[in-house]
Amino acid sequence: MHLNLENSRKSYDQHQLEEHAIPRNPFDLFASWYKDAEKISSIEANAMGLATVSSDGKPSLRKVLLKEVWNNQFVFYTNYKSRKGREIEHNSSVALLFHWEARERQVRIEGLAFKLDAIKSDEYFASRPLSSQQAAIASPQSEIVENRDDLEQRFAKVSSDSDQLIRPEFWGGYGIVPKVIEFWQGRPSRMHDRITYIKGDNKDTWSTHRLAP
Ligand SMILES: Cc1cc2nc3c(=O)[nH]c(=O)nc-3n(C[C@H](O)[C@H](O)[C@H](O)COP(=O)(O)O)c2cc1C
Repeated sequence: MHLNLENSRKSYDQHQLEEHAIPRNPFDLFASWYKDAEKISSIEANAMGLATVSSDGKPSLRKVLLKEVWNNQFVFYTNYKSRKGREIEHNSSVALLFHWEARERQVRIEGLAFKLDAIKSDEYFASRPLSSQQAAIASPQSEIVENRDDLEQRFAKVSSDSDQLIRPEFWGGYGIVPKVIEFWQGRPSRMHDRITYIKGDNKDTWSTHRLAP
């Protein structure tokens, strides 16, 4: 099989990103781009790539859902014993990626992941639909399972146990504390705009730099 995509190209010409027009704080720019992306109903604007690194230095990548930007952290929820959870346990350096194609925009985030405190994870778990709670409890995320039937049985067992479920310790949230946030805006002729924010030593101070496309 040969798939040739050499002639698949698109010109980006919707928006621009200029130093004089950006806020000092990258969270404000993130919020404004997020709200813009969210207006396009066909995209799941809060889906983000999450990259982690294994103990032997191999990267892995998957999508998760951003659930909150809170206390200057990007928050998502998962199974702490999953592959990503195990990798974060070993090395808390992670990267996030948003691509809002319809706006010709990309945001790259690099930082450290911390487990949220139990109370916050409890609150979020309690807010989820019952079937999502059941699935979180039933699924040994990232483990090899026998077959689909095996999974269905695990789900059925949890579902028959109780309808008032408590968050298991192996499931909860992470907050990503960013050190670098880069905003990429597609521009014509591949002369894209890239502005990177780098966190300073003082809390909440950020320097900004333009990067070559
Ligand atoms: C759009 C999208 C959103 C997802 N959101 C989550 C999420 O918020 N949390 C989660 O644990 N997995 C989520 N997943 C599933 C993950 O991509 C992945 O399959 C799972 O977390 C296991 O990853 P791991 O084995 O690398 O730990 C999502 C998948 C997609 C495609």
